[in-house]
Amino acid sequence: MKLFFLLVCLFIERGTPLCQKCFPSDFLWGTATSSYQIEGAWNISDKGENIWDWFVHTYPENITNQGNGDIASDFYHHYEEDIDLMANLSAQVYRMSLSWARILPNGKRDYISEEGVNFYKTIFEKLRSKNIEPVVTIYHWELPMTMHELGGWVNPEMADYFADYASVCYELFGSYVKYWVTVNEPYMQCIQGYGSGIHAPGITDTGVADYQCLYAQLLAHAKAYHIYNDTFKATQNGTVGIALVSQWYEPLTDSEEDKLAVERGMQWMWGLQMNPIIYGNWPQIVIDRIGNFSIAQGLNSSRLPEITQKDTALIKGSFDFVGLNYYTTFYASAMTENISDISYNSDRGIIQSSDKNWVLGANTWLHDVPSGLRKILKWISINYRSPRILITENGWSDLPEVVNDTERINYIQGHTCSLLQAKYVDQVDVFGYIYWSLTNSFEWKTGYSEGFGLIQIDFNSPNRTRTPRASYYYYKNLIETNCLKH
Ligand code: NOJ
Repeated sequence: MKLFFLLVCLFIERGTPLCQKCFPSDFLWGTATSSYQIEGAWNISDKGENIWDWFVHTYPENITNQGNGDIASDFYHHYEEDIDLMANLSAQVYRMSLSWARILPNGKRDYISEEGVNFYKTIFEKLRSKNIEPVVTIYHWELPMTMHELGGWVNPEMADYFADYASVCYELFGSYVKYWVTVNEPYMQCIQGYGSGIHAPGITDTGVADYQCLYAQLLAHAKAYHIYNDTFKATQNGTVGIALVSQWYEPLTDSEEDKLAVERGMQWMWGLQMNPIIYGNWPQIVIDRIGNFSIAQGLNSSRLPEITQKDTALIKGSFDFVGLNYYTTFYASAMTENISDISYNSDRGIIQSSDKNWVLGANTWLHDVPSGLRKILKWISINYRSPRILITENGWSDLPEVVNDTERINYIQGHTCSLLQAKYVDQVDVFGYIYWSLTNSFEWKTGYSEGFGLIQIDFNSPNRTRTPRASYYYYKNLIETNCLKH
């Protein structure tokens, strides 16, 4: 009998998560949103138009049910209520973003909007009164139209315009902010906005513009990082990071080809963003493969822009912490090569699939696979010199009307358990967890047809009624006890 119990315990230890454990007392808990997805007030006072305003108005059919962020959850008028809801959650941090064109209507510092600046100052004051520390993303995908007209993110000069905008943010709001996130998910905006074109600004140029965009955004990040360090850090004493999108991959089969496909999956998403920041260059496998394909395609040089020595020096080491956005895991298997296909997908050469036993959320891609979070944290730690990591996003999507959201509770429980294991068993340096998202909001291409929020919003009611879901109370308890018990 004793032996039986011993075996059961061993199984629990190795096979399934053992999570009766507490987080360190200085571990940060919070929720996240982004400006375009919640604020509304898209054309109030002197706010400038941005690429998302323009995209949803020009191609309404590109968004499910023709949704848009004109009003969204109307955070612009409901921020007090939302900050009270955060305070009631006992959250220590709130990840929010600033709208570039609300602060600088024409994108440049020669005209600063007083109303835009006051709006954010009021938010920071209110957060301060509730003891909530803001984690501020300077750029979450809403480029001012004036910048788009200058070529947007395929123009390398965008890095300088961004750095200038970032320094305006440091000057204006630096006394309130200890955690800056320069750019949100460069990879996602570049692949979807400048590759497949399903996101603003809707450019379809996969295999060329998407890589150029990535270069410009990494450079933008690095310049903003250095400006803070050189000019503001001494007086403001904050830290600067970047939020990177991730997915974990498992090989579909044990074959060597599928294991290599996993490696490509990781390097084309995570490596493309992180390798330059740690090692100063794109991952070697990406350089080689795109270079070889480009030559076979009859081009004189690689479609992947070469990072100059000067930019390498700027980009390498440009972070105090790394923001990890992790949602899900996929299987990867090798795709048959088609040399004439100039595309990011061919470059990467993988087919993604999912397990039929994984629980699926309210979209096509989000499966609940908590083990992936632990694995990717460990993988990052081993391959990228153990950076200090903040989980800047992790969240579950279900139908917007669901209030009794058991699946979200399971998701949070599973993922925070994985986090504990990464922290205590694998010794990963992760110092906080920020759930995406506080409320349901405008989910880009899928509009309002799905919701990631701990709080549901009635988008048909003029006053956008907020209703906390069951997960809100689950998360509140987790934050307040600082422990997982299962
Ligand atoms: C990542 C993005 O940063 C955020 O804007 C989006 O809503 C979530 N993922 C969910 O898709």
